[in-house]
Parts: sequence; C-alpha cells; structure tokens
Amino acid sequence: MGEYDRWEGRYAAPEYIFGRAPNYFIASCKALLPASGKALAVADGEGRNGVWLSLQGLETLSIDFSPTAQKKAAALAQESGATLGFELADVHTWPYPAEAYDVVAEIFTQFSDPQQRRAKWDGMKRALKSGGLLIIQGYTPKQLDYATGGPKQLDHLYTRELLATEFAGWRDMRIVEEELEMHEGAAHSGKSAVINFTAWKP
Ligand SMILES: C[S@@+](CC[C@H](N)C(=O)[O-])C[C@H]1O[C@@H](n2cnc3c(N)ncnc32)[C@H](O)[C@@H]1O
Repeated sequence: MGEYDRWEGRYAAPEYIFGRAPNYFIASCKALLPASGKALAVADGEGRNGVWLSLQGLETLSIDFSPTAQKKAAALAQESGATLGFELADVHTWPYPAEAYDVVAEIFTQFSDPQQRRAKWDGMKRALKSGGLLIIQGYTPKQLDYATGGPKQLDHLYTRELLATEFAGWRDMRIVEEELEMHEGAAHSGKSAVINFTAWKP
C-alpha cells in the first residue's frame, strides 16, 4: 500500500488520531511567535497545529496530501472559530513560494526519505522570510526502541547533528532532545524520544 492510501485509511477513523489539541511543543513556542503575519503548517494532517497557529493571530495555510485529513481539519477550524486556508499538496513537490511566511511549522513529518527531506527542507527554507521562525519536532533514532509512533527507517529520523548542520548559521538555534510520555491521540501514545528545534532564518 502506498503512503497516500495508508494515510487516507488511518484518517478514515471518526476520531482525531493525533487529537484536537495542538502538539505540546508547538504550543510551548507561543512566546516566540510574532503578533501577526503568515504561517505555514507543513503536512498538517487533521489541523490541530494549523488551527492553533491561526488562533494565535497568524494568517495560516495548512498543507497536507490527505483530503480526508483536511476535511477533519476544516471541521476543527470551524468548531474552534479559526480561519485558515487549506491546500492539498505533496510537501516534496509543492512550489513553496519565496519569502512568504513569518512562521513555518513542521511537526512529525518523518515520512520523507533523505532525498525527499532535502526537497521539503529546501522548500521550507525558501518559504520563510528572512527573520522568520522555523519550528520542528520529530523523533530521534532512540524512538525505534519505543515504537510508540513515527517511522521505522533510521534515516528518516532526526538527530542534533542533522539539524545543526542543515540549519547552520540560523539565528538563536535551540535544539532540545527529550524522552517523555506522550499522549497525542491514539497514534502517538506512550514513552517517546523526540527532538525539538527552533531557529530564525538569517
Ligand atoms: C504523523 S502525521 C502528522 C500530522 C500533523 N503534522 C500533526 O502533528 O498532527 C504526518 C502527516 O503527513 C501527511 N503526509 C504524508 N506524506 C505526505 C506528503 N508526501 N505530502 C503531504 N503530506 C504528507 C499525512 O497525511 C499526515 O497528515
């Protein structure tokens, strides 16, 4: 089964498989956000993070390739009183506009192999304005021991070295690895090993 069918199948469940509340790490970045501007939520799924960004006063675009997830995201937005845009997009090939966003958020999108990640990260870098904030959360290789969510392929996972090298020269880079009990819907549940990243595009 391909990735698209796999995600469409998972999202066919009536519940929000990652929950309706924003990811705890993105919520912890509240104080870093600009008071206004534009945000891009990459592979935003059922919209929990895009909705939250929009409720922080940012004009937000939520992109994902799953129409079923985006229907659920639109319902969540309406119920939350959030106004955000949606676009069905493959994040490896989407034409990321240059210097368009003040905030780009990439939360748990480790479906990308290294070559796909190159295309996605190049696009995200291009899409951020100079001075814009990048927020990333992903799993580290240690997550393979926990198996409580995320990919099984080692080269899809993020390390401090990978992020530090990839975003070398970005301002005020902060990288924190943590192991914690995570409960974000049924799909991310239990002891988890994650890495949290924030930095501003130079
Ligand atoms: C682990 S989920 C995370 C969703 C969301 N970021 C969150 O934290 O709730 C990964 C998401 O990536 C989407 N996805 C997978 N491959 C994709 C691709 N090539 N282009 C766009 N979206 C993709 C899936 O539909 C799914 O919504």
